[in-house]
Amino acid sequence: MSLRIGVAGLGHWGPNLARNFAELAELTWLCDASPDRSDVASRYPHARFTGDFDEMLADGEIDAVVVATPVPTHFELARKALDAGKHVLVEKPPAMKGHEMDELVGLARERDLVLMPGHLLLYHPGVRHLREMVAAGDLGDVLCVYGNRQNLGIIRSNENALWSLGVHDLSVILHLLDEEPDEARAFGRDFLTEGVEDVVFCYLRFPSGKIAHMHLSWLDPHKMRRITVVGTEKMVVFDDMELERKITVYEKGPWRPSERYGEWQTRTGDIFSPRIPSDEPLKLECQEFLRLIAGEGDRVKVAEDGARVVRALDLLTTSLHAG
Ligand SMILES: NC(=O)c1ccc[n+]([C@@H]2O[C@H](COP(=O)([O-])OP(=O)(O)OC[C@H]3O[C@@H](n4cnc5c(N)ncnc54)[C@H](O)[C@@H]3O)[C@@H](O)[C@H]2O)c1
Repeated sequence: MSLRIGVAGLGHWGPNLARNFAELAELTWLCDASPDRSDVASRYPHARFTGDFDEMLADGEIDAVVVATPVPTHFELARKALDAGKHVLVEKPPAMKGHEMDELVGLARERDLVLMPGHLLLYHPGVRHLREMVAAGDLGDVLCVYGNRQNLGIIRSNENALWSLGVHDLSVILHLLDEEPDEARAFGRDFLTEGVEDVVFCYLRFPSGKIAHMHLSWLDPHKMRRITVVGTEKMVVFDDMELERKITVYEKGPWRPSERYGEWQTRTGDIFSPRIPSDEPLKLECQEFLRLIAGEGDRVKVAEDGARVVRALDLLTTSLHAG
């Protein structure tokens, strides 16, 4: 029997989630606080529309809820949904404070429910390939990772570059390294809107000694969506601006001919791009949510990984505001 899903938040992003769940499951409810969004509901005649999230939750038939409302509402809506016994897919980040996210994770665990953050990039076939290479040790020891997420615009006035852009790279960096940073520093400036940083540089250090960096900005001449992983044997770049070469592997690394006398030299081999499937990451994310509900995969780890991202964002925010 297919699972019954309700989607809340039908602004820019929610309709994409609704489209996927209409294909993969039974889309039974659509919810948006603004009646103007009821036009989305007209595409799904079998789904009921409401402006009241609680009305949707009160439907005992519904199995899971998808939350695609603005970030400040995520924690409260996800908490209500878990309290009502529903599995939840909540857009990133699911909460704005580490302790709030810990509360959601605890609730999901207590009720044995799925709490999945919508970290879209983790389902990107290019990022999956990168993760497989790192996990298999293909790069040797990973030393550092850095993300570039820059562009001119979209200039936001309610969310800074760290929360708006950084959440994507941070989710990938923590996923690749599978560690939680013990040191997190961020520096930035609010050039355009007071209190909303448009340019942010972040530094993370992990217990293993690995380090990471993120350059996040909507005041930049380059449009970059790139993650670089530097290993002792190979170096890899994931570039989401590339149509075909999403992943480039550089067989380059440091090399010391003799441990005792040799000075460090460098080694340069082939540079190649493996074929990466063009599957839609959002569809893969939605399929993963349904798989977790069906009892496949590790639902506890998915929720805890989401908490790790929020805790790191929380640490970086404290550092950013400390100046
Ligand atoms: N994963 C991605 O790549 C990606 C891309 C874009 C947006 N998002 C995320 O999706 C979420 C929504 O972003 P958006 O750009 O669609 O925002 P948006 O402002 O366009 O839409 C949000 C909608 O939520 C509705 N809403 C607000 N409070 C509500 C409530 N309590 N109950 C029901 N509806 C409510 C609003 O009326 C609005 O229609 C954000 O968390 C954002 O970070 C993710």
